[in-house]
Amino acid sequence: MPIYAINNTWILETRHTGYAVSVSGSGRLVHGYWGRRLPYPEDYPAGEEGYGWASFNGVGQVTREEYPAYAGANYTEPCLRATFADGVRDVVLRFDRAEQPEAGTLHVHLRDVYYPLRVTLHYAVYDAYDIIERWVTVQNEGAQPLTLERVWSAQWHLPPGDDYRLTHLTGRWFDEMHLRRETLRQGVKLLDSRRLATGHHHNPFFALDRGSADEDNGEVWFGALGWSGNWQMAAEVTDFASTRMNVGVNDWDFAWRLEHGQDFSTPPAYAGYTIRGFGAASRRLHDFIREVVQPHDQPVHPVLYNSWEATMFNVDVASQIALAERAAQIGVELFVMDDGWFHGRGDDTAGLGDWWPDARKFPNGLKPLIARVNELGMKFGLWIEPEMVNPNSDLYRAHPDWVIHFPTRARTELRNQLMLNMARPDVRDYLIGHFDRLLSENNIEFIKWDTNRNVTEPGWPDAAAFGVREPRELWVRHVEGVYRVWDTLRDRHPRVIWQSCSGGGGRVDLGILRRADQVWPSDNTEASARLAIQEGFSYAYPANTMEAWVTDMNPNNLSLDFRFHVSMCGALGIGGHLLHWEEKGLLPGAAKWIALYKTLRHLVQYGDLYRLRSPQTQPFSALLYLAKDKSEGVLFVFRTHLPEPAILPPLYLRGLVSAARYEVEGFGVRSGEAWMRAGVKVELGNFESRVIRLRRL
Ligand code: DGJ
Repeated sequence: MPIYAINNTWILETRHTGYAVSVSGSGRLVHGYWGRRLPYPEDYPAGEEGYGWASFNGVGQVTREEYPAYAGANYTEPCLRATFADGVRDVVLRFDRAEQPEAGTLHVHLRDVYYPLRVTLHYAVYDAYDIIERWVTVQNEGAQPLTLERVWSAQWHLPPGDDYRLTHLTGRWFDEMHLRRETLRQGVKLLDSRRLATGHHHNPFFALDRGSADEDNGEVWFGALGWSGNWQMAAEVTDFASTRMNVGVNDWDFAWRLEHGQDFSTPPAYAGYTIRGFGAASRRLHDFIREVVQPHDQPVHPVLYNSWEATMFNVDVASQIALAERAAQIGVELFVMDDGWFHGRGDDTAGLGDWWPDARKFPNGLKPLIARVNELGMKFGLWIEPEMVNPNSDLYRAHPDWVIHFPTRARTELRNQLMLNMARPDVRDYLIGHFDRLLSENNIEFIKWDTNRNVTEPGWPDAAAFGVREPRELWVRHVEGVYRVWDTLRDRHPRVIWQSCSGGGGRVDLGILRRADQVWPSDNTEASARLAIQEGFSYAYPANTMEAWVTDMNPNNLSLDFRFHVSMCGALGIGGHLLHWEEKGLLPGAAKWIALYKTLRHLVQYGDLYRLRSPQTQPFSALLYLAKDKSEGVLFVFRTHLPEPAILPPLYLRGLVSAARYEVEGFGVRSGEAWMRAGVKVELGNFESRVIRLRRL
């Protein structure tokens, strides 16, 4: 049984992990255990209330409450803060009851001891993935309204102790997803976004270990948040060496008014545990994202061509057909026309919001281009940016009130655009209407959904006209609005493959991956820079979601082979100017790599990833993708700059069946154990790379 109760303790078990919470003598819900699954139910320690001997030690310091609210002497980070109608800002939660609505789920109801406020902690266990999902619903059962000021999804308690090491992903536009590691000390380490978007700067993913875990060994607690708006991960170490990771919607400028009977639900927080290091943590997340989070029936992603870097805004039928003909010639399966196709869009100063084909560029609509692309044997895809509007657009001229703004303030333009308020149903209806028509009338089989700025002046002056009395609810309602538009279009057009992009990797998270089949991780397509970005990405996200183009962004003059090999580590795409490639004689080389990729992409996109050597720390790096049944695999090896003389170390493969015999292409036949212990010696010069297949005999 994955979840059971024993002596006031609830135990949640997955295949390899156990998690326990208890009701204490005073009725608090207290965390007891999270880690390796224990042999017997009575092994799980009950969560207990601690007693500090000094008057200065509050409950948060000495007791590991599962979902603490701000009340009494709680000076550590609470998950919930609220103000009641009478001005009281103190929420005293006690256990009410628990139920298991279905196998693998648990609802624990807490109630305030005085006010009619119910807080329900939802748990779901994903046995095979060793992952637990938590989210929270807060319900106002009273007649008076109340205001929520913080409602996090979860507080994850690590086993008592300090000196945990936090691994997280950080960066900026064009330079996302860098792996950072730091030891947590007393106090709070905060990662967040205040941008009404996930953001390029931090990513809502964490991993914690005791400082010594590596790719293959060691305890790792890891997690992610399914949310594409303002978020927060606050890791706190108390002065009694208790370490917690708090995860949820950012409380910065947040408020939510609950009228009688209303409730508020948080986004889901996911977390897991493994004793097999960061490699296993990533593989668990990859499987979980592919098989549970993502829309079902995930496709093996087609090799796509995207015209952005070739033609920028200068798209028209002739330029796109010229590119499409070359793309088809080298084996591309999906041709995507990027920005520039819609009404008035000559550059980034105009057009966003007017989602119909520009009559000068496409006098007969998109159909002639799509027909030619289809005739060439490719699917057709299109770029859109629904949440944005240029002031120079028919939409803005008609509805200047549709954007997020404060009435007395100038509307800050970023990339000459403003953000539509997706909390408004009229805005959503407009977008659904236009894109539904576009997708219904044209054979569009792929959408790249971009969003190229973050919020400023986060106001909603006429919120009350929409029944919303607290304008700061915008922080959440806008994101829910984006999801609603996306879900509606996805439901109506199930054949379409959806890509999430935000100026590169500004919207990569488990919320968007519920609706997006893939994401665009970075606008930086320079291959050597991309190695590190892609590795960071792989800590949380699987390769099938990682679109990766080969382009002309090549200041270091890397070979076409190297550039292809880097992009073949994800969902391969091409973004270079194919007419120039033709002039330079690059098309046959491209065709060769695309053909090879098609034979191994099932391994890359749906296999198990083993990071053998890190490009963030090593100029000689390698990745192995292995079939789930371990019958075949593909090894990618890269050398960037390493001064000569250099002796390259063997690559110790991972994950093979010890006693089985494997052929590593070009290196002979040996046992799995031999390839893992004695390794493969791959010789490479500076800025060379190899792709090497292996198969079980
Ligand atoms: C930003 C994206 O990341 C690019 O790939 C491209 O689609 C541009 N926007 C188009 O404006």
